[in-house]
Amino acid sequence: MPHDFMPGLAGVPAATSSISDVDGQRGILEYRGIRVETLCAESSYLETAYLLLFGRLPSATEFQQWNRDVTHHRRIKFRIVDLLKCLPEQGHPMDALQAAVAALGMFYPGRNVKDVENNYWSAVRLVAKLPTIVAAWARLRRGDDPISPRDDLGFSENFFYMLTESVAPPLWADIFDDCLILHAEHTMNASTFTGLVTASTLADPYTVVASSIGALKGPLHGGANEEVVIMLREIGMVEKARSYVSRAMENKKKLMGFGHRVYKVKDPRATVLQQLCRRLFAESGSSPLYEVALEVEAAAGESLNSKGIYPNVDFYSGIIYDKMGMDIDLFTPLFAMSRVSGWLAHWLEQLRENKLFRPDQIYSGEHNRPYVPIDQR
Ligand code: ACO
Repeated sequence: MPHDFMPGLAGVPAATSSISDVDGQRGILEYRGIRVETLCAESSYLETAYLLLFGRLPSATEFQQWNRDVTHHRRIKFRIVDLLKCLPEQGHPMDALQAAVAALGMFYPGRNVKDVENNYWSAVRLVAKLPTIVAAWARLRRGDDPISPRDDLGFSENFFYMLTESVAPPLWADIFDDCLILHAEHTMNASTFTGLVTASTLADPYTVVASSIGALKGPLHGGANEEVVIMLREIGMVEKARSYVSRAMENKKKLMGFGHRVYKVKDPRATVLQQLCRRLFAESGSSPLYEVALEVEAAAGESLNSKGIYPNVDFYSGIIYDKMGMDIDLFTPLFAMSRVSGWLAHWLEQLRENKLFRPDQIYSGEHNRPYVPIDQR
């Protein structure tokens, strides 16, 4: 049966899912039917991860158990640390994360993906260990020893501790936790789809997540948050923002952190991130990058809003991480250590009725060409 080719599979459903929903016209994002704004106000990243993975908010006892399981599995094996030590320190942290996650699968074989119990522990390990790997790499590459996780600290507090060896101000941990909630899931995007293609072969969850990490790295997806801060630094001051945007428009250059395949209004995550920026700066002083970003948004809006192009999740997140002293190239790994819960939720959902992905193609080549021997070409 002939089909129309849809470049980028735009608008083509790849799954039926009850995990999250985007209303791109009204700028609404829900996880399991709950608005992300509500989750940021009321929930924590770890509780949101449970909601995504298991379909409902946990009871107090269930949350206690989930929290305990994740907390007890934060440590990584010394051989994973050894593996990280062998990687070139100039390499991108997303590559280090992908390599370490793939290697994790060798320590915790999860090949029988029909085993529900095993799948639970794989999910626990992946949610628990990604932050430890990200923090370990960030330290190792500058010659510092990794710091072991502390069981008395919450998920986000512990991440800061493993990164800096000090406990972050409560507001920072709180804001960071909200950032993790906002990045945890987003329907059928490139990295989720990549993971599902891998999962459809019944590969183990570590391989699934390693595949998704690879897709998230690119600058058209998660990698845009790095590019935004590079752009804002390059602009440098509010006065230069308008001329930068005009030049970009004249040269048909895409502004990083703007535009989305689904949202035709401002990404609701960008709106919450802006509120988080304001909370952070009220306590810790403003960031010149934020002032530049506001001016870029205003200037870009004049030419792009009529095309349905507005700031996306990547536009304001990097400004927060930068203010918290995180290296630019850690921004996408931070995205990954949050999004892992969304990837795994899709993996578990798909396993219930798995079908191998095997799309079609429209062949545009020739037929019946003769084979010409090499000495006659
Ligand atoms: N800046 C300027 N113009 C843009 C931008 C942008 N950021 N995004 C889209 N446009 C324009 C295109 O030039 C094109 O214009 P034209 O119709 O006049 O040729 C039109 O809008 C459609 O653009 P496409 O790239 O075809 O739209 P698509 O739906 O494929 O784009 C995408 C989505 C890839 C995210 C795009 O907006 C983009 O490249 N943005 C910049 C990178 C970015 O921020 N990525 C992060 C996305 S969020 C995430 O993945 C977590």
